[in-house]
Order: sequence, then C-alpha cells, then structure tokens
Amino acid sequence: MTDMTLLTGPTLCFDGNPLQQAWEDVVRIDTDGAVLIANGIITQVGQAAALKQAYPEAAVTSYGADHLICPGFVDAHVHYPQTAMIASWGKRLIDWLNDYTFPEEMRLSDPTYAAAISARYLDLTLAHGTTTVASFCTIHPHSADALFKAAQTRNLRIVAGKTCMDRNAPAGLRDTAQTAYDDSKALIDRWHGKGRATYAITPRFSPTSTPEQLAALGALWREYPDCLMQTHLSEQTDEIAWVSDLHPQARDYLDTYEAQGLIGERAVFGHAIHLEPREIDRITETGAALVHCPTSNTFIGSGLFDMAGLAARHIPIGLATDTGGGSSFSMLRTMAAAYEIGQLRGTPLHAAQLIWLATAGSAGSLHLSDKIGSIAQGYEADVTVLNLSSTPAIAQRHAQAKSHWESLFATIMMGDDRAVADVWVAGDLTG
Ligand code: GUN
Ligand code: ZN
Repeated sequence: MTDMTLLTGPTLCFDGNPLQQAWEDVVRIDTDGAVLIANGIITQVGQAAALKQAYPEAAVTSYGADHLICPGFVDAHVHYPQTAMIASWGKRLIDWLNDYTFPEEMRLSDPTYAAAISARYLDLTLAHGTTTVASFCTIHPHSADALFKAAQTRNLRIVAGKTCMDRNAPAGLRDTAQTAYDDSKALIDRWHGKGRATYAITPRFSPTSTPEQLAALGALWREYPDCLMQTHLSEQTDEIAWVSDLHPQARDYLDTYEAQGLIGERAVFGHAIHLEPREIDRITETGAALVHCPTSNTFIGSGLFDMAGLAARHIPIGLATDTGGGSSFSMLRTMAAAYEIGQLRGTPLHAAQLIWLATAGSAGSLHLSDKIGSIAQGYEADVTVLNLSSTPAIAQRHAQAKSHWESLFATIMMGDDRAVADVWVAGDLTG
C-alpha cells in the first residue's frame, strides 16, 4: 500500500501570476487547507476535514492557524562556492570578485573542500526553507559533481553548472574555450535530466570569457537545447563600461551573449539592472528570464532592479539570494529586500507577490513551473511550512494582524530560519 501523508493547516495556493493579474484574484490562503502527498508527489489539495475523511489511512501532520504551508522556496541564482566568504566588506563588484571571491573559489580546487562546502551550503539553505537552487559552481568540474551529488543525497531538485572563465581571472581559475566546452559537455552527460537535476551551461559573465569561449558554449547549447544557460547581465555601471571596452563590436552587454548564440527562452540572466531599451526588447522577444537579486544589488552597491517595468513587458522574473554577493541565505530576507527596493522605486510589492516570486516565479524562470513552486496536484512535494509567530517580536505583530497577509508580511520583513517550522522534500520531512 502507498504511504500517504496529509498536511493540514493554512495553505498558500496560486491560480495565476500576481505580477500580471490583481494578486487578490490569483493568490489565496486556504485557512482550513490540506495537502495529500503520495510517492513524493502532491496528489490532492483541498479542505482538511474532507481529505481526512477520504483518506483515513494517511499519516496526518497538523499545523496551527499561525502557520502557513507554502511551496519550498526556489532560489534562482546563487554561487554555492561563496558560502564561506558571504558578507565580506566594502567592495564594488570587480574588486569584490578579485579580492574575496576568486581566492575563495580557488580553494575549491580541492575536491574534499568542494564536497564539504556543497554539503554545508545545501544544509544551510534547507534550514532556511529553500528546496531548489540554481547555482554557479567554480571552473573545476568536480565542484559541479560535488553539488549534484550533495543534492542527490538529499533528493533535492537542483540546477547547476560548471562556471566557465578563460580570461581576467587568476591562473588557477581559468579554463579555455575547448576545456569549457569539453568539461561542460561531460557534466551534461553525467547529470542533466538524471533524477532531479538540470544542467545550466554557465559562462560566468562576458568580462571573464573571450568571444571564442562564449561561441563554444553557444555551440554546446545548440547541441543540448533543453539545458538552461545562466550568466550575469548589466549588474554594475563600471562593469558595463568594462564590457564595452572588452567587446567593442557589441551593440550592448546583451549583444556579447547574443552574438554567440547565448540568448533564448532557456537563458537566465542574473541582475539585469542597467538595461538599454534594445536589450529589454530582445529579452522580451526571446522569452529569456531575468533574476532579481535584491540583497546582492544593495550589498555590492549595484542598483535598483525595475521589477514593475520589466514585469509589465511580461518577462519571466525569478528571485534570488545571489550568495555570497547577497548578504543572506534566506529567501524571507530576500523578499524583504525586494519589498524595500520596490519602495525606493515607488512600486512596493504585496506579500502575495513576494512569496509568489520566491516560489512559482523562480520556478518559472528555471523552466520548472510544471514540477515545483506550487502547492497543486501533480507537483513534486517540496513544501516549506512557515511559523508566523517565530520570535517574540514577530509573535506580538502576528497577534495584532487582521489577516494572514498582514501576518505573513511581518514574517517576510522580520523573519529568518527560525520562521521555518518544517521542510518537506519530495514528501519526506527533513531535519
Ligand atoms: N558577476 C560575475 N561573477 C559574479 C559573482 O560571483 N557575483 C555577482 N554578484 N556578480 C558577478
Ligand atoms: Zn551571481
């Protein structure tokens, strides 16, 4: 007989995209909700009383009225190798990379260290309620193997790729156009589509790749079009000026990728803050996704992502910590930062839009929206249960809240890993 699990309690449900429709019409909290799970899949979503009666054999876990059953958080752009140097002080992007990031990424030349950081990173993010990440690795192929293996051990859905760089990086962190192609191809053959893994072809960004390397990766993507392609785009103004020096023939930053076949529906561009009108038009036409990294964009001093303007163009948008440029592993903290950036731009996001971005929105940006990011029938049972009164400060605000939305907003703004009551991965309780 199939083992069945029934989670009961307030449940977050999506019926559409709250960046495109009024959030009240497409996001709801079912106060007496229930989620039935069998074989790692959500098989029913409904009312607690009805599902308890219909499935008396199911093992029930009941969450109280001050909890919220949510999809597991999806972090659409991270650098797991930067776990140990998160929150390094005072630099802008290029100096931050040279002074803090590259020396730490060099340490992952040791496969034992790469395995230890992979495990540490996934345990930290799971404790923060994140059940899927899309990660850059280092240039070392074993750094990607380590993360894929650590995810497999935990049965996590994962997106990752070996980072490719053949210039403007220290000698120990450079590959070549040919080895980037060969090593990425071997990793695709080893991992892409195996279990819960997706491979993302990963040129770091155009300052650290020659046009030849970008072209080799464009050719590889044409061979494996169902892989994702992840990279960085227009994060800082001084970076953009450098890109234009390095690629004088390019019309703009996006063109450095476009000219080499690195644009398309499965392209995922992190940051995308200082975009030219042509770049926005091209991203819109191709269906590529953008990822908002709000804690990173303030921490490294990059700028304010135009969520409202880009969502109005119907561009798929995900949300991400961008650790270790981002200053937190927490998607709650990341939602809070997205709210604050919205305020600075005069377009604050509602709690329903923030939590949609951190789940279904990010899943959509990674082309996983038929598998994860929603509590709905047929979806993989990755579920994060929030405690909406996790600390004395939050509990006293929760006590005053007139709705679940008001309460959820307080947890978004003030919460951390203490607000994560339980995390279920493919139907199994973790921790
Ligand atoms: N641009 C190129 N590499 C990186 C990185 O590791 N972090 C961030 N935030 N931006 C980048
Ligand atoms: Zn990044």
